[in-house]
Amino acid sequence: MELSQDVKAGQSVYTSMGLAIYDVLVLSISNSYIWKCPTRKILEHFNKNISNKHLDVGVGTGYFLDKCNFPTNKPTLAIMDLNTNSLNKTQKRIKRYNPKKYRANILDKLTQIDENYDSISINYLLHCLPGNLISKIKVFENLLPLLNQDGVIFGSTILSDGVKKSTTASKLMSIYNKKKIFCNMEDTLENLDAILASRFKNYSIEVVGCVALFKVQKQELC
Ligand SMILES: C[S@@+](CC[C@H](N)C(=O)[O-])C[C@H]1O[C@@H](n2cnc3c(N)ncnc32)[C@H](O)[C@@H]1O
Repeated sequence: MELSQDVKAGQSVYTSMGLAIYDVLVLSISNSYIWKCPTRKILEHFNKNISNKHLDVGVGTGYFLDKCNFPTNKPTLAIMDLNTNSLNKTQKRIKRYNPKKYRANILDKLTQIDENYDSISINYLLHCLPGNLISKIKVFENLLPLLNQDGVIFGSTILSDGVKKSTTASKLMSIYNKKKIFCNMEDTLENLDAILASRFKNYSIEVVGCVALFKVQKQELC
């Protein structure tokens, strides 16, 4: 797999050590006190939109797949990530669902997946990807062929403008961007709205703190 340095940088922090502290550092502390979007808001977003045939992309530690309520207790689940540490940790955490596992760069065409899904989540993925939101629309373009008619793609992303940002949030975002853990300095609410509006008739964005929780429906593809 050929990867640019920037794509590699967006996933390189997810070492075994990074993943060991992720739930506490990001989901407990940063979400509530820095980004001001408590993890329970994101979990609610999962609970509202997840289906029994689901693909999660950019899995991290698998927290949301572990904690969310699927419509039944036997969902068909697949996980995709570029980073094998994230994939392995999540696969272990949700082994009760026996997920299929794919290693892929979401910015490339997803040729190895031959199944379709009723829902696809991309939580906290966009702000890790290089480029601006106009180039990140590729994520939706690559996922749409895997989505059943009437299916939804949902998730959330940390924005740098058009949202309420404390001084601490601005400082941390700037550090993460310098280290290339995040690439969201050009990710504004206005741009997110514009790219979703350009592709989808039916989409929603809810802003909580610095985070935009979004959902698009395939049925309404322009
Ligand atoms: C911030 S974590 C999000 C984890 C989880 N979705 C959550 O919300 O807690 C981002 C995840 O996206 C993965 N990732 C980063 N760049 C990627 C890429 N180009 N293609 C696929 N996965 C990528 C990382 O390896 C990591 O597992």
